[in-house]
Amino acid sequence: MPSHFGKEIIYKDMEGFFIVGGNKLKGEVRMDSAKNSLLPIIACCILIEDEVELVNVPKYSDVLTMCEILCHLGGKAEFKGDNLYIDCRGIDKNCIPNELSSSVRSSIFTLGPILGRMKSAKVAYPGGCDIGLRPIDLHLKGIRELGAKVVEKNGYIYANGGNLTAGEIVLTFPSVGATENLMMLALSIPGQTRIYGGAQEPEIGDLQRFINACGGSVSGGRGNFIVVDGGRKLHGASFEAMPDRIETGTYIIATAMCGGEVALKNASLETNGALAMKMLKTSCKIEQKGDTIIVQSSGRPESFGEIETAVYPGFPTDLQAQMTALAGVSEGYSLIIENLFEARSKHVGELMKMGYDIRAKNGITIVKGRDRIFGADVTSPDLRGGAALVLAGLCAEGYTTIDNIKLVDRGYYKMEEKLRALGGDIKRLEIEKRRC
Ligand code: EPZ
Repeated sequence: MPSHFGKEIIYKDMEGFFIVGGNKLKGEVRMDSAKNSLLPIIACCILIEDEVELVNVPKYSDVLTMCEILCHLGGKAEFKGDNLYIDCRGIDKNCIPNELSSSVRSSIFTLGPILGRMKSAKVAYPGGCDIGLRPIDLHLKGIRELGAKVVEKNGYIYANGGNLTAGEIVLTFPSVGATENLMMLALSIPGQTRIYGGAQEPEIGDLQRFINACGGSVSGGRGNFIVVDGGRKLHGASFEAMPDRIETGTYIIATAMCGGEVALKNASLETNGALAMKMLKTSCKIEQKGDTIIVQSSGRPESFGEIETAVYPGFPTDLQAQMTALAGVSEGYSLIIENLFEARSKHVGELMKMGYDIRAKNGITIVKGRDRIFGADVTSPDLRGGAALVLAGLCAEGYTTIDNIKLVDRGYYKMEEKLRALGGDIKRLEIEKRRC
């Protein structure tokens, strides 16, 4: 039965996780395709007037929202089993309203493709996790440098692509989203566009792999400038995105915290080098065997010392909250410095309710590891902060309830099922938040 978005999956407001801590993790789970690859790839389909098959697509709620956006524009997006079929031949609109755009950060990734295809676009400001201001000035600066006229008014970005011209763009900060947006806009402009100072995250390379599979020609990145040969007609393809390195890192950290032995299939340490280096300092053992990562830990590891988040290949900001959770149950002191997002420490207040000995100010967090943390009623502040609370709940004495888990569903698919398969005592419930 074809599924039309907004109807197939219904997230109940009162859903939450109920976790009883103390179990070690043991067993095997398969990591899903990368959320932060799939979101720009779905946006890129706007430029492809053919059917695209995306293989093994997890139903992250952000993926469902991006599909809603394509359907709003006049395209089609349908799941058949685990595969997602997208056909944008019917797109006849160029406006994304606030109620769709403001629910995800990745809505801004559609600006370039819509402008490239329709020659004008009206897109409301994006939303996304509340982890900082998250401006879009680099996106708009690059689009202007390619010749578009851009006006910001009444909460919308109005872009006119009357005289888009291939050229050179210099990004003063390697923004992931801006790099992706500009790469996609350049696809529709005949001639060669070069993007200097672009992001080097693996998801950029995955988007390039997708574009080239559809007949495009994009190369570079990873320390070099990106070259886009625009103006080529793009055709459909069947494509599977790379494994999600942040989901993988989250399960590595969960195993380090709970103890046990876990096999993560469809996972690669190659895109998790910074985490692997840090875990070397703990007693957690990590080994790549083919397409599987084996993680062994006795639980309560030594502290990893310190992490400082940076753009790739530095330590990923998307694993910062999970490492803070790990620090709280490790031996000794840990220092966590968040450099990318100025408000990415809302999980600290929630962890304190669980007995964490933790101080955070101006992006710097100091944690003193404890041998006991305690279950509490906590609230997920954002996607990765919510994941950090799940990890803490799995280690805590007693039970933990976590609400607002719709934010966790944005980037973890069936998290409770995967953790239960590994022996974690976690359920998705409508929860009563009473303790007396
Ligand atoms: C992407 O967000 C990811 N989201 C984020 O993952 C990830 O944390 C981030 O890249 C960094 O790796 C998706 O891919 C959907 P940025 P994005 O533009 O593109 C500043 C998760 O948990 N900036 O690289 O928004 C910005 O304020 C999410 O999966 C500007 O100043 O990240 C931030 O300080 C969270 N102006 C820094 O750059 C701009 O125009 C990094 O932002 C754009 C960004």
